Parts: sequence; structure tokens; C-alpha cells
Amino acid sequence: MKKSGKIFLLGFMGSGKSTLGKKVATRLNIDFIDLDNFIEQQENKTISAIFAEEGEAYFRKIEQNALEVLCQKPDNMIIALGGGTPCFFNNMELINNTGISIYLKYNSGILSSRLLKAKSTRPLIKNKTKEELVAFIDNMLLDRKFHYNKAQFVVENRNVKVEDILVLI
Ligand code: S3P
Repeated sequence: MKKSGKIFLLGFMGSGKSTLGKKVATRLNIDFIDLDNFIEQQENKTISAIFAEEGEAYFRKIEQNALEVLCQKPDNMIIALGGGTPCFFNNMELINNTGISIYLKYNSGILSSRLLKAKSTRPLIKNKTKEELVAFIDNMLLDRKFHYNKAQFVVENRNVKVEDILVLI
């Protein structure tokens, strides 16, 4: 692996960053870290509770801080970022200066059907209907495209396999 041996998976909520990250980590025999879980452990609160009690701006600050902490660790690891992580502060520059970034890119049709089943723990979408969810994702993808496209690699609209990642690193 290049640089410090860190691989960052980015993409919208529901793009399968954690599922894939765990598999790649097992194959490479390195640590897997889910940034949301890392924040939850540090704060001793769920992401939903942090959003509800402290607000999104506070969440984005501690998210940036958690990313910096992980980037400073010397270990090889694969990190599943939160869907919004690349879009705040200079996070994408930090990510690209630290390791390899891979964007798992899906359209709003695929993302919305995946997220309908798993929206309760995600504060930004938990109260949305299917139609609202599709519109929300389309808008967010427009906003976030600029940041997501800074990833060094993009894997688009398909079921990404561990092998697809291994050829990139
Ligand atoms: C968010 C995505 C979530 C979590 C938070 C905000 C976003 O992570 O960080 O709810 O802004 O897209 P996942 O992409 O792991 O669901």
C-alpha cells in the first residue's frame, strides 16, 4: 500500500462503506474503523443523540477532530467515513494527503431503496417518505458532488467486491 497505508471509503449514506470496509480489512489483515462508531465511542452518545442535543454544526466539528485523530495514527487501516465527512472544512485535503480515497458512487434510485430500510438511525433522513428521500438525495448529491469527486478513485453503480478495491491500492 502507498503512503501511510490508510484507505478511506467515502460516499453517500447507504453506499455500503462499512460493509465493504470490514471485508477489505479482513482480507488485508488491517484494522477497520467506522468514523461514526469512533465518534459515538468518544462522545459516549449515538450520532442521533449528538444531532438532537448539540446540533449538526457541533457534530461536524467533532467529526473533523475524529478524522484528524485517526489520520495521525501510524497504523495501516481502512476507514469508512460518514456520508458528509468529505464535504466540510479541509477534510478531503487531509484525507488525500494521508492515504487513498475511494468514492462508492450510486444514483439516488439505488441509495433510496437501500436507505428506506435503514433510515431510523440517520438523523438527516429519518422522517422522510420514499418520494422525499429521493428528492433529498438528488439535492444532496448535487451539493456534495464537488467534494466527493476529489476522491482518487471512483467505483460507480455496482456491487463493489473486495477485489475491486484490492486492484486500486
Ligand atoms: C451523514 C451520514 C452519516 C452520519 C450522519 C450524517 C451525512 O453517516 O455521519 O448521520 O451527512 O451524510 P453514514 O454515511 O455512515 O450513514
